[in-house]
Amino acid sequence: MTEPGAAPAAVERAIDARRERVNDAITEELPIIRPERLYEASRYLLDAGGKRLRPTILLLAAEALADTEPLAEDYRSFPADPAPVDVMSAAVSIEIIQSFTLIHDDIMDDDDMRRGVPAVHQEYDLETAILAGDTLYSKAFESMLETGAPADRSVRALSELATTCTKICEGQAFDIDFESRDAVEPDEYLDMVELKTAVLYAAAASIPAVLLGADDAVDALYGYGLDVGRAFQIQDDLLDLTTPSEKLGKQRGSDLVEGKQTLVTLHAENNGVDVDGLLDADGVEAVDEAAIEEALAELRAVGSIEYARETAHDLIRSGKRNLQILPDNEARDLLGGIADYLVEREY
Ligand code: IPE
Ligand code: IPE
Ligand code: MG
Ligand code: MG
Ligand code: MG
Repeated sequence: MTEPGAAPAAVERAIDARRERVNDAITEELPIIRPERLYEASRYLLDAGGKRLRPTILLLAAEALADTEPLAEDYRSFPADPAPVDVMSAAVSIEIIQSFTLIHDDIMDDDDMRRGVPAVHQEYDLETAILAGDTLYSKAFESMLETGAPADRSVRALSELATTCTKICEGQAFDIDFESRDAVEPDEYLDMVELKTAVLYAAAASIPAVLLGADDAVDALYGYGLDVGRAFQIQDDLLDLTTPSEKLGKQRGSDLVEGKQTLVTLHAENNGVDVDGLLDADGVEAVDEAAIEEALAELRAVGSIEYARETAHDLIRSGKRNLQILPDNEARDLLGGIADYLVEREY
């Protein structure tokens, strides 16, 4: 079999088309009701943008499994045995979880900008941001309950979602814990990002197999998500160093300021770089693009950027091998292509 893959332009078109559908569904599923301020704060980041990569992967995995024409007419009644399933509710659920984690992540990481707008705790206040995150967290379960899948599959999907959320919290706890640790090994970093980031990709890729009763594909799709999700986080860490804030929609250099351990910094430490001394700043406002460029040049010079890039590409290659379980169709190729996109993307 040739490696599943699709041309970058086709991948971007596929993401754009599904993002539109997901956005419409989010508006339907999260109306602004009383208390308005809470629901407005809950919708605020969702409305500000976002790439919608995880729900796109979920919809593509459903399409690949059902072997349908790409871009279903109606994801709310997606062809399945014994009766149609609303895979869009599952996709929305995953994006709502993403949004919940981002709101709380920005509080924990002390970041003031997200998706090009003030973070929720900045636009509103800390109390509202915590509550908005909590509201989204529970709304995601309500949404996952609405797929109309047979009860046993529905329970399995909900159980996977719950485990995923627990793991994200564990990963975020390790992420914070590592800030005050001297040395972190690459494997510890990879375990941490598996928990904080990759499990949501794994849930997105495998939950459609659960809902559609494609039991033999669940593990492979989960494995695909874990590998490409870890690679996605490595690319996120790289973009934090390389990409201007305006393009990123979030503060460039935030990880260095916060003292985050990434593959880049731990490689640099092992190669004689004093990472703590790279940025002489006591707050994110004090860091300008020139200071970050200088730090980046030093990291590049010792090969740390290249090391992280190569690790991410290895994970993408390994993740894509799991797609062989799927029928050979356009959606499978797009899942291969989106894996490449995760580490080629520029924001
Ligand atoms: C950001 O995810 C959070 C991480 C896990 C690094 P994305 O880069 O997918 O953010 P949005 O959803 O497109 O804003
Ligand atoms: C976030 O990782 C992981 C989550 C669970 C949200 P980051 O802290 O690197 O995400 P960004 O860079 O703020 O989007
Ligand atoms: Mg963050
Ligand atoms: Mg974080
Ligand atoms: Mg980041």
